[in-house]
Amino acid sequence: MADSTCCVTSPRKRLMIFSGRSNPALAARIADKLDVQLGSVELKTFANGEIYARFEENVRGSDMFIVQSPCDSINDELMELLIMIQAAQLASAKRITAVMPYYPYSRQDKKSAAREPISARLVATLLEASKVDRVLSMDLHQGQIQGFFEIPVDHMTAVPMLADYFRYKDFGGTPLVAVSADAGGVKLAKRFINRIPGCDLAVLTKMRPDHNVAETMHFIGDVRDKIAIIVDDIIDTAGSITSAIETLYDNGAKEVYVTATHGIFSGPAFDRIRSSEVKEVVVTDTVHVEAASCDKVKVLSVADILARTIRNVFEDESVSEIFAGDNQLF
Ligand code: R5P
Repeated sequence: MADSTCCVTSPRKRLMIFSGRSNPALAARIADKLDVQLGSVELKTFANGEIYARFEENVRGSDMFIVQSPCDSINDELMELLIMIQAAQLASAKRITAVMPYYPYSRQDKKSAAREPISARLVATLLEASKVDRVLSMDLHQGQIQGFFEIPVDHMTAVPMLADYFRYKDFGGTPLVAVSADAGGVKLAKRFINRIPGCDLAVLTKMRPDHNVAETMHFIGDVRDKIAIIVDDIIDTAGSITSAIETLYDNGAKEVYVTATHGIFSGPAFDRIRSSEVKEVVVTDTVHVEAASCDKVKVLSVADILARTIRNVFEDESVSEIFAGDNQLF
């Protein structure tokens, strides 16, 4: 007679980490911090542009993390991620997490004019259709993106790391003021000043006459004889920051610095930064940055933050405790 008390022991959990082709250097840094080998995956693009992915090792039953930050070839890299997720799902990975430090299309998060799409939501729909189980992302452009998903989205932030960089930089006692690059970024800038004792807050507002064209319109605050640090989530063409830099010098700032989580630097960005009076632009490696292209650009790595988050997700521990609760969206 069968023993009714007999139980089945589950196999040990297995963490596997793979990289798409958008930011392999970041994936390698994360794997290094986690002390695991990056998994082997074959990724190819056929002559007609179709993408092919095949995991070159057994992934059955694994807790799989795929690192992909679609940015440079944003549409191909997004498609590659979807294909990798489907391949993992068909190969019986137990849980698949898309690690997307930069969320593509994040600025299209609402309708601002008639007959527009909400492309950030479409990206969420595509990810869920590919059968991903969970998404990790960092400093999302707006909090509502988290609500576009039915699956869990763990939100991380690089703001404390960026703030600490300025907190411990030697400014010779000159007072600091953080400047929100636009009205929508005030909460981000407030999180930044919370880490820097005595740091003041100022706000710029901007108007966009066209996509990728920014004009600073109003300035609220006092930057006279202070070190002004512009805080933003994204630098794309650097139009917003260069117009903000001019406004701050016009208002008497002693020196102007810029910090942002995602340094996309497309088109004229490096030329604009080079010819501006900015002292330094500090970003992270959420997306691949050719820092060598401009000696005013400094890149801090988020690999440690991502590795700790992945570790806690894998071990079913809290993610918010890594950030002391400061990672909540607004
Ligand atoms: C916009 O709302 C974002 O927060 C950034 O300010 C913007 O994407 C930066 O774009 P660009 O560098 O092209 O001005």
